[in-house]
Amino acid sequence: MDDLRDKYIDLIAGAADEAALEELRVQAVGKKGEISLKMRELGKMTPEERQVAGPALNALKDEINAALAARKTALADAALEERLKGEWLDVTLPARARAQGTIHPISQVTEEITAIFADMGFSVAEGPQIESDWYNFDALNIPGHHPARAEMDTFYTHRADGDNRPPHVLRTHTSPVQIRTMEKTGAPIRIICPGRVYRADYDQTHTPMFHQVEGLAIDRDISMANLKWVLEEFFTAFFGTEVKTRFRASHFPFTEPSAEVDVQCEWVDGQVKVGQGDDWLEVLGSGMVHPNVLRNAGIDPDEWQGFAFGIGIDRLAMLKYGIPDLRAFFDSDLRWLRHYGFSALDVPTLHGGA
Ligand code: PHE
Repeated sequence: MDDLRDKYIDLIAGAADEAALEELRVQAVGKKGEISLKMRELGKMTPEERQVAGPALNALKDEINAALAARKTALADAALEERLKGEWLDVTLPARARAQGTIHPISQVTEEITAIFADMGFSVAEGPQIESDWYNFDALNIPGHHPARAEMDTFYTHRADGDNRPPHVLRTHTSPVQIRTMEKTGAPIRIICPGRVYRADYDQTHTPMFHQVEGLAIDRDISMANLKWVLEEFFTAFFGTEVKTRFRASHFPFTEPSAEVDVQCEWVDGQVKVGQGDDWLEVLGSGMVHPNVLRNAGIDPDEWQGFAFGIGIDRLAMLKYGIPDLRAFFDSDLRWLRHYGFSALDVPTLHGGA
């Protein structure tokens, strides 16, 4: 037994790697290993012999197992030591440049708008981009024969042959979210709804998909004066300078009275500057919510009233950041995106922007 012990302790100490260790383990204490075979011989011994040989063999087995484990740890430690010698890092080296995406101007401007209105107590509501004609038109006081329907260049979805229900539409404005919100929460209300809208139109200032932000404030005594204050407050914060506005009497089926709102601007070398000069640029439609609209959404017009407005987000982005062609917004041209995009670290603030 002493010979066996010396032999294996020596071999284990000299094993060069894990594979060699494993081989030794099989040879010594594996099922058919030398020590295991010796253990089998215990059965042929007299009880007296067995009493001496049994514990000694067990002790030997334990000793060999312990030696195997110790050597294994030592080998692993040595391997790690070796690796650490080769692997080191110069933390003073400059980092490799990484390709970075940018925040799209529409996303940036939507965030800016949201931040400014949030500061005035407006929360954000959303609605579906595929709308029923009830929410997009009828509930907003635009009946089937109304010319506004034809003027909107609406995209209609398809109904199966024989299905005579009116088709759904791609919403032509964010105004249906007014109705959905009124139905859901009742009055009072103070929300904005930014989102995508669709009209079949395409030129330098029109794309078939564009963005609006709807505003809606309903309470017992909200007036046109509140609308004017809110919008002027908004433009001044958004453009970072005092901006005069001009309210022009207009007509929308869902507001009465209605006004289109222009911001003061000036053309300098073909570029438009907002907040100076004496030109005007139309940026939104607005008015006092029509009693029929309130009624259609389950709100009593004898008790509640309020204003609504719809701003073109894309137009605002073009004005603020001097972007000349709307169509480029949606071309996904990387050079354009790098030029006009924003760093993700440019967190929009109240007085937002680049
Ligand atoms: N929905 C109108 C449009 O898309 C804008 C608007 C919204 C006008 C709310 C008045 C009130 O042109």
